[in-house]
Amino acid sequence: MIETIKKHIAEVEAFTASNKDEIETFRIKYLGKKGLLNDFFAEFKNVPNEQKKEFGKVVNTLKDTAQDKINTLKEVLESSEEIKGVYGDISRPGEPIELGARHPISIVKNKIIDIFSRIGFNISEGPEIEDDWHNFTALNLPEYHPARDMQDTFFIEKNPDVLLRTHTSTVQVRYMEENKPPIRTISPGRVYRNEAISARSHCFFHQVEGLYVDKGVSFADLKQTLQYFTTEMFGKSKIRLRPSYFPFTEPSAEVDVYWGLETETDYKMTKGTGWLEIMGCGMVDPNVLRNCNIDPEVYSGFAFGMGIDRIALLLHQIPDIRMFSENDLRFLEQFKSAY
Ligand code: PHE
Repeated sequence: MIETIKKHIAEVEAFTASNKDEIETFRIKYLGKKGLLNDFFAEFKNVPNEQKKEFGKVVNTLKDTAQDKINTLKEVLESSEEIKGVYGDISRPGEPIELGARHPISIVKNKIIDIFSRIGFNISEGPEIEDDWHNFTALNLPEYHPARDMQDTFFIEKNPDVLLRTHTSTVQVRYMEENKPPIRTISPGRVYRNEAISARSHCFFHQVEGLYVDKGVSFADLKQTLQYFTTEMFGKSKIRLRPSYFPFTEPSAEVDVYWGLETETDYKMTKGTGWLEIMGCGMVDPNVLRNCNIDPEVYSGFAFGMGIDRIALLLHQIPDIRMFSENDLRFLEQFKSAY
Protein backbone atom coordinates (compact mmCIF):
# COMPACT_ATOMS: atom_id res chain seq x y z
CA MET A 1 0.00 0.00 0.00
CA ILE A 2 2.71 2.45 1.01
CA GLU A 3 4.52 1.69 -2.25
CA THR A 4 1.35 2.48 -4.24
CA ILE A 5 1.03 5.85 -2.51
CA LYS A 6 4.68 6.65 -3.21
CA LYS A 7 4.09 5.91 -6.90
CA HIS A 8 1.18 8.37 -6.82
CA ILE A 9 3.46 11.01 -5.29
CA ALA A 10 5.91 10.58 -8.18
CA GLU A 11 3.02 10.76 -10.66
CA VAL A 12 1.69 13.95 -9.08
CA GLU A 13 5.12 15.54 -9.19
CA ALA A 14 5.47 14.76 -12.88
CA PHE A 15 1.99 15.99 -13.79
CA THR A 16 1.56 18.94 -16.16
CA ALA A 17 -1.58 20.57 -17.59
CA SER A 18 -2.24 22.92 -20.46
CA ASN A 19 -5.70 24.13 -19.46
CA LYS A 20 -8.08 24.60 -16.53
CA ASP A 21 -10.09 21.43 -17.30
CA GLU A 22 -7.06 19.20 -17.00
CA ILE A 23 -6.21 20.75 -13.66
CA GLU A 24 -9.77 20.24 -12.43
CA THR A 25 -9.82 16.56 -13.49
CA PHE A 26 -6.54 16.13 -11.65
CA ARG A 27 -7.93 17.81 -8.54
CA ILE A 28 -11.03 15.61 -8.52
CA LYS A 29 -8.91 12.49 -8.96
CA TYR A 30 -6.85 13.21 -5.84
CA LEU A 31 -8.63 15.75 -3.68
CA GLY A 32 -12.28 15.28 -4.70
CA LYS A 33 -14.87 13.84 -2.33
CA LYS A 34 -14.53 10.45 -3.94
CA GLY A 35 -10.85 11.03 -4.68
CA LEU A 36 -7.91 8.79 -3.99
CA LEU A 37 -6.87 10.66 -0.87
CA ASN A 38 -10.17 10.07 0.87
CA ASP A 39 -9.83 6.37 -0.06
CA PHE A 40 -6.39 6.29 1.51
CA PHE A 41 -7.57 8.10 4.63
CA ALA A 42 -10.45 5.60 4.93
CA GLU A 43 -7.92 2.80 4.61
CA PHE A 44 -6.02 4.13 7.64
CA LYS A 45 -8.01 2.13 10.13
CA ASN A 46 -7.08 -1.13 8.41
CA VAL A 47 -3.36 -0.43 8.46
CA PRO A 48 -1.40 -2.47 11.02
CA ASN A 49 -0.38 -0.35 14.00
CA GLU A 50 3.37 -0.47 13.37
CA GLN A 51 2.84 0.90 9.85
CA LYS A 52 0.34 3.64 10.80
CA LYS A 53 3.04 6.27 11.37
CA GLU A 54 4.71 5.85 7.98
CA PHE A 55 1.36 5.40 6.22
CA GLY A 56 0.07 8.67 7.69
CA LYS A 57 3.24 10.46 6.62
CA VAL A 58 3.10 9.37 2.95
CA VAL A 59 -0.63 10.05 2.63
CA ASN A 60 -0.08 13.58 3.98
CA THR A 61 2.85 14.07 1.61
CA LEU A 62 0.65 12.99 -1.28
CA LYS A 63 -2.03 15.43 -0.19
CA ASP A 64 0.41 18.38 0.13
CA THR A 65 2.16 17.54 -3.14
CA ALA A 66 -1.16 17.39 -5.01
CA GLN A 67 -2.35 20.67 -3.50
CA ASP A 68 0.98 22.42 -4.30
CA LYS A 69 0.88 21.08 -7.83
CA ILE A 70 -2.61 22.42 -8.42
CA ASN A 71 -1.65 25.84 -7.07
CA THR A 72 1.46 26.19 -9.24
CA LEU A 73 -0.26 24.93 -12.38
CA LYS A 74 -3.07 27.44 -11.89
CA GLU A 75 -0.62 30.28 -11.39
CA VAL A 76 1.36 29.43 -14.51
CA LEU A 77 -1.80 29.16 -16.57
CA GLU A 78 -3.18 32.47 -15.35
CA SER A 79 0.00 34.40 -16.00
CA SER A 80 0.28 33.03 -19.54
CA GLU A 81 -3.32 34.09 -20.16
CA GLU A 82 -2.44 37.56 -18.93
CA ILE A 83 0.36 37.81 -21.49
CA LYS A 84 -2.02 36.71 -24.22
CA GLY A 85 -4.54 39.32 -23.11
CA VAL A 86 -1.97 42.11 -23.48
CA TYR A 87 -0.06 40.99 -26.54
CA GLY A 88 -2.44 38.59 -28.28
CA ASP A 89 -0.83 35.55 -29.75
CA ILE A 90 2.84 36.49 -29.71
CA SER A 91 3.70 33.76 -32.18
CA ARG A 92 1.45 35.17 -34.93
CA PRO A 93 3.20 36.80 -37.91
CA GLY A 94 2.99 40.61 -37.80
CA GLU A 95 0.52 42.61 -39.84
CA PRO A 96 2.17 44.78 -42.51
CA ILE A 97 2.02 48.54 -41.82
CA GLU A 98 -0.05 50.17 -44.53
CA LEU A 99 1.61 53.12 -46.23
CA GLY A 100 -0.23 56.40 -46.49
CA ALA A 101 -0.19 58.49 -49.65
CA ARG A 102 0.94 62.08 -49.98
CA HIS A 103 -1.23 64.42 -51.96
CA PRO A 104 0.14 64.87 -55.50
CA ILE A 105 0.45 68.63 -54.86
CA SER A 106 2.64 67.93 -51.82
CA ILE A 107 4.71 65.43 -53.76
CA VAL A 108 5.52 67.95 -56.47
CA LYS A 109 5.99 70.78 -53.98
CA ASN A 110 8.43 68.73 -51.89
CA LYS A 111 10.38 67.82 -54.97
CA ILE A 112 10.71 71.48 -56.01
CA ILE A 113 11.71 72.54 -52.48
CA ASP A 114 14.27 69.76 -52.36
CA ILE A 115 15.88 70.80 -55.64
CA PHE A 116 16.23 74.46 -54.66
CA SER A 117 17.35 73.77 -51.13
CA ARG A 118 20.30 71.87 -52.57
CA ILE A 119 21.61 75.12 -54.05
CA GLY A 120 21.13 77.19 -50.93
CA PHE A 121 17.54 78.46 -51.16
CA ASN A 122 15.62 78.59 -47.91
CA ILE A 123 11.84 78.35 -47.57
CA SER A 124 9.67 81.33 -46.67
CA GLU A 125 5.95 81.48 -46.09
CA GLY A 126 3.41 84.22 -45.59
CA PRO A 127 -0.29 84.85 -45.01
CA GLU A 128 -2.96 83.96 -47.56
CA ILE A 129 -5.02 86.99 -46.57
CA GLU A 130 -3.05 90.01 -47.73
CA ASP A 131 -3.14 93.75 -48.11
CA ASP A 132 -2.88 95.80 -51.27
CA TRP A 133 0.75 96.74 -50.64
CA HIS A 134 2.17 93.22 -50.58
CA ASN A 135 0.05 91.81 -53.39
CA PHE A 136 0.19 94.79 -55.76
CA THR A 137 1.73 98.14 -54.92
CA ALA A 138 5.12 96.97 -53.67
CA LEU A 139 5.35 94.74 -56.74
CA ASN A 140 5.28 97.75 -59.03
CA LEU A 141 1.54 97.57 -59.58
CA PRO A 142 0.30 100.96 -58.33
CA GLU A 143 -3.40 101.74 -58.12
CA TYR A 144 -5.15 101.82 -61.51
CA HIS A 145 -2.27 99.93 -63.12
CA PRO A 146 -3.90 97.98 -65.97
CA ALA A 147 -1.88 94.85 -65.15
CA ARG A 148 -3.89 94.45 -61.94
CA ASP A 149 -6.54 92.95 -64.15
CA MET A 150 -4.17 90.13 -65.11
CA GLN A 151 -4.96 88.60 -61.76
CA ASP A 152 -8.65 88.44 -60.96
CA THR A 153 -8.71 89.13 -57.28
CA PHE A 154 -11.02 88.03 -54.48
CA PHE A 155 -11.51 91.05 -52.27
CA ILE A 156 -12.54 90.56 -48.67
CA GLU A 157 -12.75 94.25 -47.80
CA LYS A 158 -12.40 97.48 -49.74
CA ASN A 159 -10.65 100.68 -48.60
CA PRO A 160 -8.28 99.71 -47.24
CA ASP A 161 -8.19 96.59 -49.36
CA VAL A 162 -8.00 93.17 -47.76
CA LEU A 163 -7.76 90.35 -50.27
CA LEU A 164 -6.79 86.74 -50.91
CA ARG A 165 -3.28 86.77 -52.37
CA THR A 166 -3.18 86.11 -56.09
CA HIS A 167 0.46 84.98 -56.09
CA THR A 168 3.17 84.13 -53.60
CA SER A 169 5.24 87.12 -54.75
CA THR A 170 3.69 88.66 -51.63
CA VAL A 171 6.01 86.50 -49.55
CA GLN A 172 9.02 87.76 -51.48
CA VAL A 173 8.06 91.33 -50.62
CA ARG A 174 7.71 90.41 -46.96
CA TYR A 175 11.01 88.57 -47.02
CA MET A 176 12.87 91.50 -48.60
CA GLU A 177 11.34 93.90 -46.09
CA GLU A 178 12.70 91.84 -43.23
CA ASN A 179 16.02 90.52 -44.55
CA LYS A 180 19.12 92.05 -46.04
CA PRO A 181 20.77 90.57 -49.17
CA PRO A 182 22.12 88.09 -49.97
CA ILE A 183 18.64 86.60 -50.26
CA ARG A 184 17.94 83.19 -51.68
CA THR A 185 14.44 82.03 -50.87
CA ILE A 186 11.58 80.05 -52.33
CA SER A 187 8.01 80.64 -51.28
CA PRO A 188 5.52 77.83 -51.73
CA GLY A 189 1.86 78.37 -50.96
CA ARG A 190 -1.77 78.49 -51.93
CA VAL A 191 -3.08 81.37 -54.03
CA TYR A 192 -6.55 82.49 -55.14
CA ARG A 193 -7.97 83.90 -58.33
CA ASN A 194 -11.51 84.72 -59.23
CA GLU A 195 -11.74 82.46 -62.25
CA ALA A 196 -14.43 80.14 -63.53
CA ILE A 197 -13.77 76.61 -62.30
CA SER A 198 -13.14 74.08 -65.05
CA ALA A 199 -11.03 71.02 -65.76
CA ARG A 200 -8.07 73.32 -66.52
CA SER A 201 -8.38 76.08 -63.92
CA HIS A 202 -9.57 76.51 -60.37
CA CYS A 203 -10.23 79.48 -58.12
CA PHE A 204 -7.37 78.36 -55.88
CA PHE A 205 -4.11 76.69 -56.75
CA HIS A 206 -0.52 76.46 -55.58
CA GLN A 207 2.66 78.23 -56.51
CA VAL A 208 6.34 78.16 -55.76
CA GLU A 209 8.12 81.42 -56.35
CA GLY A 210 11.85 81.94 -56.06
CA LEU A 211 13.92 85.04 -55.36
CA TYR A 212 17.65 85.65 -55.47
CA VAL A 213 19.02 89.08 -54.57
CA ASP A 214 22.70 89.88 -54.17
CA LYS A 215 25.47 92.00 -55.67
CA GLY A 216 25.99 91.27 -59.34
CA VAL A 217 23.15 88.81 -59.95
CA SER A 218 22.65 88.58 -63.71
CA PHE A 219 20.27 87.11 -66.24
CA ALA A 220 22.86 84.40 -66.92
CA ASP A 221 22.55 83.33 -63.27
CA LEU A 222 18.81 83.10 -63.73
CA LYS A 223 19.13 80.96 -66.83
CA GLN A 224 21.67 78.68 -65.19
CA THR A 225 19.44 78.21 -62.14
CA LEU A 226 16.42 77.39 -64.29
CA GLN A 227 18.39 74.89 -66.30
CA TYR A 228 19.60 73.21 -63.12
CA PHE A 229 15.98 73.05 -61.99
CA THR A 230 14.51 71.52 -65.15
CA THR A 231 17.30 68.95 -65.27
CA GLU A 232 16.71 67.88 -61.68
CA MET A 233 12.92 68.09 -61.87
CA PHE A 234 12.16 66.60 -65.26
CA GLY A 235 15.47 65.17 -66.43
CA LYS A 236 15.39 67.74 -69.28
CA SER A 237 18.09 70.36 -69.69
CA LYS A 238 16.99 72.08 -72.89
CA ILE A 239 15.05 75.25 -72.12
CA ARG A 240 14.09 78.42 -73.95
CA LEU A 241 13.14 81.83 -72.64
CA ARG A 242 10.47 83.78 -74.49
CA PRO A 243 10.13 87.52 -73.84
CA SER A 244 7.10 88.28 -71.71
CA TYR A 245 5.74 90.90 -69.36
CA PHE A 246 5.35 90.97 -65.59
CA PRO A 247 5.11 94.32 -63.76
CA PHE A 248 7.58 93.21 -61.08
CA THR A 249 10.37 92.01 -63.38
CA GLU A 250 12.30 93.66 -66.19
CA PRO A 251 13.16 92.02 -68.47
CA SER A 252 10.62 89.24 -68.08
CA ALA A 253 10.40 85.87 -69.74
CA GLU A 254 8.27 82.78 -70.04
CA VAL A 255 10.22 79.53 -69.57
CA ASP A 256 9.63 76.53 -71.81
CA VAL A 257 11.31 73.18 -71.33
CA TYR A 258 11.91 70.88 -74.29
CA TRP A 259 10.00 67.77 -73.41
CA GLY A 260 10.55 65.89 -76.65
CA LEU A 261 8.15 64.13 -78.96
CA GLU A 262 8.92 60.50 -78.37
CA THR A 263 5.59 59.17 -77.18
CA GLU A 264 1.95 59.84 -77.79
CA THR A 265 1.77 61.40 -74.32
CA ASP A 266 4.57 63.80 -75.29
CA TYR A 267 2.47 64.89 -78.26
CA LYS A 268 -0.58 65.40 -76.08
CA MET A 269 1.29 67.25 -73.32
CA THR A 270 3.08 69.61 -75.67
CA LYS A 271 0.30 69.95 -78.23
CA GLY A 272 2.64 68.56 -80.84
CA THR A 273 5.36 71.20 -80.35
CA GLY A 274 7.67 69.30 -77.98
CA TRP A 275 7.83 72.43 -75.77
CA LEU A 276 6.18 72.80 -72.42
CA GLU A 277 5.60 76.14 -70.72
CA ILE A 278 6.47 75.80 -67.05
CA MET A 279 6.99 79.20 -65.43
CA GLY A 280 7.45 82.95 -65.55
CA CYS A 281 10.63 84.71 -64.55
CA GLY A 282 12.71 87.86 -64.86
CA MET A 283 15.13 90.29 -63.25
CA VAL A 284 13.54 91.98 -60.24
CA ASP A 285 12.39 95.45 -61.25
CA PRO A 286 14.47 98.18 -59.50
CA ASN A 287 11.21 99.73 -58.28
CA VAL A 288 10.39 96.55 -56.37
CA LEU A 289 13.80 96.49 -54.70
CA ARG A 290 13.42 100.15 -53.77
CA ASN A 291 9.93 99.49 -52.33
CA CYS A 292 11.51 96.89 -50.06
CA ASN A 293 14.36 99.18 -48.95
CA ILE A 294 17.02 97.47 -51.04
CA ASP A 295 19.26 99.78 -53.06
CA PRO A 296 19.01 98.79 -56.77
CA GLU A 297 22.29 100.63 -57.43
CA VAL A 298 24.06 98.06 -55.24
CA TYR A 299 21.95 94.95 -55.59
CA SER A 300 20.19 93.11 -58.38
CA GLY A 301 18.13 89.95 -58.38
CA PHE A 302 16.04 87.49 -60.29
CA ALA A 303 12.65 85.97 -59.53
CA PHE A 304 10.59 83.16 -60.96
CA GLY A 305 7.21 81.62 -60.27
CA MET A 306 5.50 78.40 -61.24
CA GLY A 307 2.18 76.69 -60.66
CA ILE A 308 2.49 73.43 -58.76
CA ASP A 309 -0.92 72.15 -59.84
CA ARG A 310 -0.09 72.51 -63.52
CA ILE A 311 3.17 70.62 -63.13
CA ALA A 312 1.44 67.89 -61.10
CA LEU A 313 -1.26 67.57 -63.78
CA LEU A 314 1.42 67.18 -66.44
CA LEU A 315 3.70 64.80 -64.59
CA HIS A 316 0.93 62.46 -63.50
CA GLN A 317 -1.28 62.88 -66.57
CA ILE A 318 -4.25 63.96 -64.47
CA PRO A 319 -7.15 64.99 -66.68
CA ASP A 320 -8.97 67.40 -64.33
CA ILE A 321 -7.59 69.93 -61.83
CA ARG A 322 -10.70 69.55 -59.69
CA MET A 323 -9.54 66.08 -58.68
CA PHE A 324 -6.93 67.73 -56.43
CA SER A 325 -9.58 69.11 -54.11
CA GLU A 326 -12.26 66.42 -54.16
CA ASN A 327 -10.64 64.13 -51.57
CA ASP A 328 -11.60 61.04 -53.52
CA LEU A 329 -9.61 58.20 -51.97
CA ARG A 330 -9.59 56.23 -55.22
CA PHE A 331 -7.65 59.10 -56.74
CA LEU A 332 -5.40 59.87 -53.77
CA GLU A 333 -4.40 56.25 -53.08
CA GLN A 334 -2.74 56.05 -56.48
CA PHE A 335 0.12 58.18 -55.16
CA LYS A 336 1.16 55.75 -52.44
CA SER A 337 4.53 54.91 -53.87
CA ALA A 338 5.46 58.50 -54.69
CA TYR A 339 7.43 60.60 -52.22
N1 PHE B 1 3.91 86.09 -59.72
C1 PHE B 1 3.78 85.63 -61.10
C2 PHE B 1 2.41 85.02 -61.30
O1 PHE B 1 1.77 84.66 -60.34
C3 PHE B 1 4.82 84.64 -61.46
C4 PHE B 1 6.18 85.26 -61.53
C5 PHE B 1 6.97 85.32 -60.39
C6 PHE B 1 6.66 85.78 -62.67
C7 PHE B 1 8.21 85.89 -60.45
C8 PHE B 1 7.89 86.37 -62.77
C9 PHE B 1 8.67 86.41 -61.63
O2 PHE B 1 1.98 84.87 -62.41
